[in-house]
Amino acid sequence: MFTKILLICLLAAISVITVNAEKKYNNQSELIDDMLDNMFTCMHELDVKPDVCGELLLKDKDHSDKKYDNCKCLGPCVAKRMGTMNKDTGKWNWARFKELAELMENNLLRNETNLMQTHCMDEVNTHCTAGYVFMKCVLQNSPMAQDMVKNYLSARENTPDEGGDAK
Ligand SMILES: *[C@@H]1O[C@H](CO)[C@@H](O)[C@H](O)[C@H]1NC(C)=O
Ligand SMILES: *[C@@H]1O[C@H](CO)[C@@H](O)[C@H](O)[C@H]1NC(C)=O
Repeated sequence: MFTKILLICLLAAISVITVNAEKKYNNQSELIDDMLDNMFTCMHELDVKPDVCGELLLKDKDHSDKKYDNCKCLGPCVAKRMGTMNKDTGKWNWARFKELAELMENNLLRNETNLMQTHCMDEVNTHCTAGYVFMKCVLQNSPMAQDMVKNYLSARENTPDEGGDAK
C-alpha cells in the first residue's frame, strides 16, 4: 500500500502545482488537500491502475503501449481541474503554476517547484503527451523524485510475488 502512495505522490508531482484559474487557495495545505481530492477523482475517472502506471518507471517497458495512456493523462487531468493546464488547448499554464508555487511554505516542495520551472517549462506539448514529457523531465531533474522511484522499485522487488502477473 505504501509503495502505491509513493507512486501516486510521484505522479502527483506532475500536477502538484498545476492549478486552477477560478479557484483561490489561501495556503499550502488548502492547495495540497484540493490536489489530493482531484487526484483521487481523476484516478477514478481514468480508471488508473497504480501497478500498471508504476511500470512507466521501468526502462525496459514499451512506454508507447496503449495500456499506459491513462497513466499519462493523470497529471493533466488534475492540472486541468486546478487550472495549471488549459482545458481546451491542453497547454500548461505556467503563470498559474507560479502563482500556486508561491503558496508552498515547505522548503522541499518549494525546491521541487523551482526545479520544475527551471527545467521542465514546456510550451509545445499538450494534454496527456505534456503530462508524460513532464513526468520524464521531473524524474530526470529531481533528486527527490529519483529517491521516490528508488524506494518504489526496491519495495516492488521485495514484495512477495503472489504467483503470476499481479493485477
Ligand atoms: C489555510 O487557510 C484557511 C483559510 O484561511 C485556514 O482556515 C487554515 O487554517 C489555513 N491553514 C494553515 C495550515 O495555515
Ligand atoms: C533547496 O534548494 C536550496 C538551493 O538549491 C538548497 O540549499 C536547500 O538545501 C534545498 N532545501 C531542501 C529542503 O531540499
